[in-house]
Amino acid sequence: MTAAPMPDPGGLRERAASALIGARERTRLLTGCVDERELTAQHSPLMSPLVWDLGHIGNQEEQWLLRAVAGQEPLRPAIDSVYDAFEHPRAERPSLPLLTPKEARAYVADVRSRVLDVLDTAPADGGGPLMESSFAFGMIAQHEQQHDETMLITHQLRRGPAALTAPEPPPAAPDTALLPAEVLVEGGPFTMGTSTEPWALDNERPAHPCFVPSFFIDTLPVSNGAYLRFIQDGGYEDPRWWHPEGWEQVRRHSLAAPLFWRREGSTWTRRRFGVEEPVPEAEPVLHVSWYEAEAYAAWAGRRLPTEAEWEKAARHDPVSGRSLRYPWGDEDPTPEHANLGQRHLRPAPVGAYARGASRRGVRQLIGDVWEWTASDFLPYPGFRAFPYREYSEVFFGPGHKVLRGGSFAVDPVACRGTFRNWDLPVRRQIFSGFRTARDAEPA
Ligand code: AVJ
Ligand code: FE
Repeated sequence: MTAAPMPDPGGLRERAASALIGARERTRLLTGCVDERELTAQHSPLMSPLVWDLGHIGNQEEQWLLRAVAGQEPLRPAIDSVYDAFEHPRAERPSLPLLTPKEARAYVADVRSRVLDVLDTAPADGGGPLMESSFAFGMIAQHEQQHDETMLITHQLRRGPAALTAPEPPPAAPDTALLPAEVLVEGGPFTMGTSTEPWALDNERPAHPCFVPSFFIDTLPVSNGAYLRFIQDGGYEDPRWWHPEGWEQVRRHSLAAPLFWRREGSTWTRRRFGVEEPVPEAEPVLHVSWYEAEAYAAWAGRRLPTEAEWEKAARHDPVSGRSLRYPWGDEDPTPEHANLGQRHLRPAPVGAYARGASRRGVRQLIGDVWEWTASDFLPYPGFRAFPYREYSEVFFGPGHKVLRGGSFAVDPVACRGTFRNWDLPVRRQIFSGFRTARDAEPA
């Protein structure tokens, strides 16, 4: 006799199963397209060996879904410390007693088959806040998706011939000459953050009112072509545009362009997943630090948007006054709305995705490139760490800057109008770009 299917309010159990399965397909691709030596090698001191990410994905899944949710005993207690991101900084991970690729694959498969059993039988809303709306399953799916982006960054840093190829190119851009360069967001309150999005992580909560004075924001992300003009105008040689620490980084590392760019005579090329290609002027600039974004904005006579400005531009509906889940509305992203999910392995040209525009006409807020904001990563009023302090709380403070909107490498389940990413202002191996803003003169 088979048991009656467990109730699935809101379809979240089903959504969790498909997010977990989809993330695993991507993980398998990212760890299956290189040989054993490359899986265990460290391609950059900034990154873990790919086989560490694999073991860590399985270990987090085991700790939260098999132990915390289902109360099971550890499968391999000795490995917890090896895969603890706080015990071991990335640079020392290659020298840890890691599971071999074969062992790691068997471990994550074992964990996953047990997890799918738990998902089938766990009460949908019983078992406390971890189980409400299948949150723990959504959190772990997003964790794997986040590491899929991390592993894609490792692939981008890796030297040697291409291992990954995208099945199809991104859509072309319409004629951007017809679009206004910037959009006014009139001053007033809006609701920032969320208390209702079922799988929003702790730092996105709670929803709270936020007053934002009038400002203008770029319709489009800053393109490679625009960024080239900054370079050609001597932007990297003029301390006027730079934060002192950014200038220090320029001098120390002789920076002259975004990461992965190379000058060949009078033209610029870039390396993208093992292929050297001309820098496409119409694409959003990628692989710039917060300092580079800030210097460009200063040179352009503008500034980076604050995090609140970015979110208001992305979510506030001026007609209803409500904050939407996404710039285009409340529907989940489709390939018509945004470049997400590692479909294209590159950003689409600026101006693409007319259907993904915000109610005020701002484009590509979701997908393509993570956008640096002016803001430090700080808790919202009423923040409560959940379910563990090490996800967000230990990173709050002036050391980390907030990025918004998600890149082409982010899964749609791990991306929404409220999602907050953060990193050190010197980082440029991440899929980061930006757009600029300016104050609106008071009327
Ligand atoms: C949210 C991308 C900053 O990679 O450090 C993965 C995500 N947290 N495992 C990171 C994360 C724990 C996190 N970021
Ligand atoms: Fe992690």
